Amino acid sequence: MEANNVNQGLSPMNKPLIEMENITKRFKVRDGSMFTALDRVSLQVGYGEFFSIIGPSGCGKTTLLKIIDGLVPTDEGSVIIQGKEISTPGPDRAVVFQDFALMPWATTLKNVAFPLEIKGSPATEVSTLASKYIELVGLGDFADHYPHELSGGMQQRVGLARALVAEPTILLMDEPFGSLDAQTRRELQNELLTIWKASGQGTVVFVTHSMDEAVYLSDKIVIMSTRPGRIHEELIIDLPRPRSEATRKDSKYVELVEYVWNVLKILAHPDEPPIKSDTQ
Ligand SMILES: Nc1ncnc2c1ncn2[C@@H]1O[C@H](COP(=O)(O)OP(=O)(O)OP(=O)(O)O)[C@@H](O)[C@H]1O
Ligand SMILES: [Mg+2]
Repeated sequence: MEANNVNQGLSPMNKPLIEMENITKRFKVRDGSMFTALDRVSLQVGYGEFFSIIGPSGCGKTTLLKIIDGLVPTDEGSVIIQGKEISTPGPDRAVVFQDFALMPWATTLKNVAFPLEIKGSPATEVSTLASKYIELVGLGDFADHYPHELSGGMQQRVGLARALVAEPTILLMDEPFGSLDAQTRRELQNELLTIWKASGQGTVVFVTHSMDEAVYLSDKIVIMSTRPGRIHEELIIDLPRPRSEATRKDSKYVELVEYVWNVLKILAHPDEPPIKSDTQ
């Protein structure tokens, strides 16, 4: 991870890791008619890329993530991962949800070990890998704690460790820090970059509502428009890595956040002139 240039995100065969071509998704609504949630969405995510999706509520971000995970089928278009079309979840992908989705009756260790147990990994491997990722997210002293004994930030770390433990090629994150306070959120943003680099794993597809979070973390951002959900714009974030708190003061960072803020504002209120934001 920590690629400086998204063009480095191609495999030796010069192919991106994820290719989505003309994805259309419709849902049946209560009156029996069909609602188009995603309309001909095409995007490519490179190997090692930190790729964020931002857009108004209801533009189809979660649906898109579920399609990449193989949980939701498309009506049209295909998802190609590492050269193969996917239609079901696979061990190459793991998801971190906004609401942590931990098992309340299980300890940190049991929650993190769960994906490996499902996979039928040998007990020694389960315990070694679960402990490794619990340490990596800084919860070494909390392995035998239950979720209700942990803070929101700690619970989200458990969710992250559980996603990393099966060592997926692609980490899918759906507003993982959305319910955390601003300070914890910033700390976890920094930790995510550190942990992801330390874990030696590849690619993150990250859904967020926060423009500063998207700019801070990403190599590339897609901005979506809504009704129907479409890709409005792709933006390359060529801020140097490693990113740090100093990045947040970088004038280029501030400009990029403001740019995304204005694009989203124009999408929401197309008739109003763009104005300067306070970048928050
Ligand atoms: N299973 C479903 N049945 C019917 N409509 C659905 C279903 N899932 C999603 N939708 C609709 O598809 C649209 C996109 O939903 P989605 O959850 O992907 O949006 P989102 O961009 O993640 O929104 P948010 O930012 O609020 O999380 C919404 O209008 C939603 O009501
Ligand atoms: Mg969503």
